[in-house]
Amino acid sequence: MQSNTRDQLHLAAFALAGPVSGNHGGWRHPEANSDILSADYYANLGRILEAGKFDLLFLADILAVPQRFENSLDSQLRYGALGALRLDPMVVLSIVAGATRHLGLASTISTSYFEPFAVARSLATLDHLSAGRAAWNIVTSFQQAEAANFGRTDQLSREERYDRADEFVQVACELWDSWKDGAVVRDKAAPMFADPAKVSPINHQGRWFNVKGPLNVSRPPQGRPVFIQAGASGRGRDFAAKWADVIFVNHSSLESAVAFYKEMKERAAGHGRDPASLKILPGIVPIVGATATIAEETDKLLSSLALPQAGLSTLSYHLDIDLSQFPQDEILPDMDVPGVQGHYKEVAELTRKNGLTLAELGKRYGIGTLRDFIGTAESVTDKLEEWFRAKACDGFMIQAPYVPGGLEDFVRLVVPELQRRGLFRKEYEGTTLRDHLGIQRPSA
Ligand SMILES: Cc1cc2nc3c(=O)[nH]c(=O)nc-3n(C[C@H](O)[C@H](O)[C@H](O)COP(=O)(O)O)c2cc1C
Repeated sequence: MQSNTRDQLHLAAFALAGPVSGNHGGWRHPEANSDILSADYYANLGRILEAGKFDLLFLADILAVPQRFENSLDSQLRYGALGALRLDPMVVLSIVAGATRHLGLASTISTSYFEPFAVARSLATLDHLSAGRAAWNIVTSFQQAEAANFGRTDQLSREERYDRADEFVQVACELWDSWKDGAVVRDKAAPMFADPAKVSPINHQGRWFNVKGPLNVSRPPQGRPVFIQAGASGRGRDFAAKWADVIFVNHSSLESAVAFYKEMKERAAGHGRDPASLKILPGIVPIVGATATIAEETDKLLSSLALPQAGLSTLSYHLDIDLSQFPQDEILPDMDVPGVQGHYKEVAELTRKNGLTLAELGKRYGIGTLRDFIGTAESVTDKLEEWFRAKACDGFMIQAPYVPGGLEDFVRLVVPELQRRGLFRKEYEGTTLRDHLGIQRPSA
């Protein structure tokens, strides 16, 4: 098992069960596999990542087709933008679980629209069936369109969303612990299938949930799944510092990544945690080629395929603000954002530094705001190493510019270079996702 040292970095792959991951032009790339409705597509993705010894596959998710931009579904659907189509990530990950042996499997699940019992059960099931590889990206959701799909006229306020999330996770943990380790005996002669002395109700009564328990699935192999979080408001950061094993975050510069890393490690320590047990993985969109010219050509092609309206449409739903109401040839105004604080911070910094018009920002958002990871295996690895050594991160969330080619290039070119430099594992040393991340299994 890996230790909690910072000798080696961690690699996760950000994907979603839909047309786009890192680049809004990605699905239009001539070599992109557009068969996103087939099981083979996801099994193949898992096998590529496992060959590259990745820690985990992360599937983002939302619960609506976004319609914030121009108050319409059209832009997301027509341009195959980030929210155009999403298969259920838990079902997709069960396919990936069957096609892999080591890869961690992270599903995004909202605490605002589901119930703790059902979520704890699904995640415990995935953790058992994958022999300890499940992770939960805990999101509070942020779109009006999602509220409208769950019988609500309005979203909960951000404060209420985080209050509910806190209790939700607390209840889920109690449910996973409602079966002690070793409760399933399977003694045919006795008979003793499960030891009643080791299974107890939780009798939770709270502001948001009343749950009697116990869970009807035994304690998961990892004790509980690995927790991932990406909230960036004050409450979001506090929630992450308390609960998260992994933080996923987007930055538009190394400086903001270093500042965020320092702050989050301090916040974790403030919650009495070992800061090393919290792994921070910024998202990047690497474009790697056998030569710098090949990488630049791929970048040029992908950029030409990503339209500004596609990026603006996605940014509109991320901020939950219709950006079509502002002049496209002027800069993004300062605003109070009801949606994702982390994405607003990212684009506000970019606008401030580069004076981009809204149309230019849309294009940039559509291809990835960070442009530092484009080039050969050596130059991209240099950058990864620079970020890691600068304490900007504990690893990276790789957002392939197109699938599967962008991931295959990364695995074929960059992973061996990272391994040669001693920065990344050559083989999996443990079996569970906690083993890969070097984080402890919680005791019951
Ligand atoms: C990089 C990144 C990725 C995210 N991915 C998702 C996602 O897949 N689904 C989702 O509902 N929210 C996602 N979010 C939203 C957050 O997890 C969080 O719920 C939201 O930002 C609201 O919290 P905040 O106000 O603290 O930012 C993401 C946020 C960031 C910064």
